[in-house]
Amino acid sequence: MFITFEGIDGAGKSTHIAAVAERLRTAGREVVLSREPGGTELAETLRELVLHRPMDALTEALLIFAGRRDHLRQLIEPALARGAAVVCDRFTDATFAYQGGGRGFDLGVLETLEGWVQQGRQPDLTLWFDLPPEIAAGRLAGARVPDRFEQQPLEFFRRVAAGYAARAQAQPSRFARIDASGERDAVWRQVEAALRERGL
Ligand code: TYD
Repeated sequence: MFITFEGIDGAGKSTHIAAVAERLRTAGREVVLSREPGGTELAETLRELVLHRPMDALTEALLIFAGRRDHLRQLIEPALARGAAVVCDRFTDATFAYQGGGRGFDLGVLETLEGWVQQGRQPDLTLWFDLPPEIAAGRLAGARVPDRFEQQPLEFFRRVAAGYAARAQAQPSRFARIDASGERDAVWRQVEAALRERGL
């Protein structure tokens, strides 16, 4: 079982990621918790570059997919092969949303890279924390030093949100849309319902 968490910055997925991992562990599963960009030593090094160094959109996409390749080979595929659940904070949908939607980068190129790097591997379940960009921006304001993405204007996050919506529409069976605008408990109830629906 490969579960990913997605949504624009400020959508509030972090606490729920830990809670999902805890729930699966309590049910007796081995859980591997990870994130992207990152997840292995090499991919975490690439993450630092992607989040903090200026670069053009193709370089950014290539570094993200290079990290993803390492992450899949070193961590995700071995974990899935031994029957562990992999819970990952962001994956390829973020590339389609941020690089594709936000940056306006060629979706066809992203699809090619996705095919090369993933060899057909997709998450079994993607919890998509959907929240209007205006609300997410308000939650983020002043919270921490922004990275290259968090510095972007509201218009960028509108395009990212549209990128997520397009991906969810194209692959509806793996997506569970979570309305992330409510209180934490209300959001958690939706997350639990999505897990239960899949026998988790
Ligand atoms: P995030 O997990 O939100 O890190 P943090 O919570 O520590 O800020 O991800 C970092 C940023 O990377 C986020 O703004 C989204 C961006 N990102 C992409 O642009 N493309 C990708 O493929 C991924 C996985 C993330």
